Amino acid sequence: MDSSPSATQPKTVSPKPPDAMDSELSKLGNNLVTKFHVLMRISQIYDSKNVALNQFVQEFLGTINTLIKGEGVLSLKIRRDDFFLNDQRLRYSVEGFTSFKYLLTQWKKRLIGEVIFKTLLEEEWLRYFIYTFINLEEGREENADLLVRQLTAHNITSIEANPLEVVEGEEEAFTVQKEDEREVAKKIFFETIGTIKEVITNIKGKQHADVRKLKRLAQKAIHLVIEDESILMGMTMIKNYDEYTFNHSVNVSIYSLAIGKRLGFSKKTLTELGITALLHDIGKSKIPREVLNKPAALNDEEWEMMKKHPLMGVEVVLNLKQLGEINPRMVVGIFDHHLTPDLSGYPKLFRKKEVSLFGRIIQISDAYDAMTTPRIYKKIPYTPEQALAIMLREKTVHFDALLLKIFIGLVGVYPIGSLVLLNTHEIGIVYKTKPESTWLDRPIILLVDRDEEGYPKKELVDLTETDGGGNYKRSIVKTLDPYKYHIDIAKYFL
Ligand SMILES: [Fe+2]
Ligand SMILES: [Fe+2]
Repeated sequence: MDSSPSATQPKTVSPKPPDAMDSELSKLGNNLVTKFHVLMRISQIYDSKNVALNQFVQEFLGTINTLIKGEGVLSLKIRRDDFFLNDQRLRYSVEGFTSFKYLLTQWKKRLIGEVIFKTLLEEEWLRYFIYTFINLEEGREENADLLVRQLTAHNITSIEANPLEVVEGEEEAFTVQKEDEREVAKKIFFETIGTIKEVITNIKGKQHADVRKLKRLAQKAIHLVIEDESILMGMTMIKNYDEYTFNHSVNVSIYSLAIGKRLGFSKKTLTELGITALLHDIGKSKIPREVLNKPAALNDEEWEMMKKHPLMGVEVVLNLKQLGEINPRMVVGIFDHHLTPDLSGYPKLFRKKEVSLFGRIIQISDAYDAMTTPRIYKKIPYTPEQALAIMLREKTVHFDALLLKIFIGLVGVYPIGSLVLLNTHEIGIVYKTKPESTWLDRPIILLVDRDEEGYPKKELVDLTETDGGGNYKRSIVKTLDPYKYHIDIAKYFL
């Protein structure tokens, strides 16, 4: 992740997107959604008087009343697949993913589209509101009215509800998200991020870290990669700015597994590679946060510390309780993931050493993910295409040329997540690549053109499709820079 090859950066600095929300509000909003989710779940288990509920009710009240105090009136509204807090779109964090999905589904099932809180909320009101809400019959059109009437009958007049607005053409938008495999991939992806986070936190607190759980997740991921690597590859586009370390480890693991699959590795070797990639930067858990997240260039001392992370990673891994899960190949992979055969990398060695195969695979995955992810010190990342071009240019120094070739074959001429212009003047995102080499330049595209209301169409088109005369219906003209078009690629993969 530390390889930052020199190259010209895209020059345009994107202004704040129109739906950008200030981070404090966004944090509170995320918090509210999580608390709402938990409270709904708990309320479905216990009756409204149960003491088990108290803590969750209090937490919800704390969050919502802070928001109401700050905002005056608070509206939480669904528009398509998003929640809007007082008309600003809430972006979800990695941890928030499950809560967002849960809440969206629960509200939509009950055809509730908006809830407005007009004054500070009292505990009794909240309890009554939640129970009335969860007891609404699914699919009944007059639910919003009914909810308001029941609240009013209970002397609660400061909560309002509105029905779900059904947007035309939404049906198709949903089919895109309903692909089962993608849902499975997402689940594994987020679960792995959560687990690696747990492992790192435990190591920092000198506690027992559960490597076996990581192993199980790696095995699940391998199953998916073997079936269809492009789905998991798409997950790597969900770049999360705040959770860089965890996201990064998982992404590096996905790329590495895909390379390993192309190399014909056995499942056992793939599992080892997957775990090694997940743990490749584990040594960073020993580096102070201020150094890791420093927005400016590191000074000499800090840089020396940073360069120790592969070695510290080895130390961490060798101290794991479940050492039985770790073998020498994995340890070496962690040790040499920044080493170059000419000794220009780190740690400093005094004798030339071949970089191990695991190390070489991880180096490629690592560089690609680091370059295509926004960071504190480089907010506008390279596009997938730019990153590949840089890597190709530096291949003799930094990368194994053959492995790099395999990697490029894997991500395609137009890597997943690239924004492209089609000859039909439509704009789209490369959503899924085709495993057959003849179709490298004809992937599946998710159109992002907007409808009359300004919402992306989210239609999937296959570039291998032909018209009656045998001509391709659509072809890629060129790639575009998503930052210039204010397109948040990650959102399309969530
Ligand atoms: Fe890394
Ligand atoms: Fe590293």
